Amino acid sequence: APGSPALTPPLGWNSWNSFGCNGVNEQVIRDAADTMVSSGMRDAGYEYVVVDDCWFDPERAADGSLRAHPEKFPSGMKALGDYIHSRGLKFGIYQVPTERTCAQGGGTFPGSTGSMGHETQDARTFASWGVDYLKYDWCSGAGTRDEQIARFSIMRDALRATGRDIVYSINSNSYHAPTGDKYNWGEVADMWRTTEDLLDIWQSDNVNSYPMGVGNVLDVTAPLAAQAGPGHWNDPDMLVVGRPGLTLTESRSHFALWALMGAPLMAGNDIRTMSADVSAVLRNERLLAVNQDTLGAGGRRVRDDGNTEVFAKPLSDGSVAVGLLNRGASTTRISTTAAETGLAGASFTLTDLWTGATSSTGGQLSADVPAHGTAVYRVTGGTPLQNTTSRWRGESSGRC
Ligand code: DGJ
Repeated sequence: APGSPALTPPLGWNSWNSFGCNGVNEQVIRDAADTMVSSGMRDAGYEYVVVDDCWFDPERAADGSLRAHPEKFPSGMKALGDYIHSRGLKFGIYQVPTERTCAQGGGTFPGSTGSMGHETQDARTFASWGVDYLKYDWCSGAGTRDEQIARFSIMRDALRATGRDIVYSINSNSYHAPTGDKYNWGEVADMWRTTEDLLDIWQSDNVNSYPMGVGNVLDVTAPLAAQAGPGHWNDPDMLVVGRPGLTLTESRSHFALWALMGAPLMAGNDIRTMSADVSAVLRNERLLAVNQDTLGAGGRRVRDDGNTEVFAKPLSDGSVAVGLLNRGASTTRISTTAAETGLAGASFTLTDLWTGATSSTGGQLSADVPAHGTAVYRVTGGTPLQNTTSRWRGESSGRC
């Protein structure tokens, strides 16, 4: 949104995927913040520690203000924010534009403490706690588009009025939107969910509907690439990297594809107990650099041959990041050319973003990609082709 603090996609961790409603408490969040530091995630660029649903007292205070849940967060949210900041990280929190959070509406948590009618007061409370990121989740009924725009805009304005830089992350899909939300929320929010929740499954046969896997969310979000840019990001949901339902190959693919899409990368695994392999995926500095590139282009699917697909994300130095995705069940050779990915020229350097190994090519790019794998390269040495990158650049800078 205009004035956004998120000029590159936000990087962080969110409590929901691993701790849900019942498991979240201040110790879990402090441990996550500590692990962000000890694992090297902070130094790799991860910043936000986001407390999702169920952090609050089911009753507002007499003056209408929000309070921390007395047993789950006994030290209070200001103290939690101070702790997170003391670790060199930023503090994210969760609320809804309606009467009840998703957990309250679904009956897993008591009370009715949504921000509807309390937006100014709640934004000021968040700012006083040192909140740097708000996840704002539409939890009741579909509502009309106009109603959603109006309610989400009220909180945008309330946050900006506090004078504090607070990333505004919205989700219009929690009423089980069947095909994802293709609306461009760039004037309203800094990032917006494109689909229902991403679960730790590779691909659901129930295309574009709940439950959604990596392939389903990819298929809704990839065509929206032109909407991405500094201050306004498509959000294909928090990462399921390292969650039990994905193989390591699938986690790696998912991470590469989300990095290429210019997606916010919010880890959702239990980072306290993650394996060295999973930690290495999340901290891949070459893929993080592609994701955080200042041009902010959303990667496009430039070829779709059914089970094999090619993605290309132009970068600010004139190079292009290229992903070769194999959705099929066996290792397959996938090929593209520099021209197809948007580059003119006669000789290029390829950097394998998984291994760091470099090689040269006159323009051909091929890899044997395992089932559900994604090979990913940076192609340097060429010149951006006008018909691709000028369009990408124009579309991504036009909204800033
Ligand atoms: C629905 C959202 O999509 C999830 O990410 C999570 O925030 C839950 N609501 C919390 O109730």
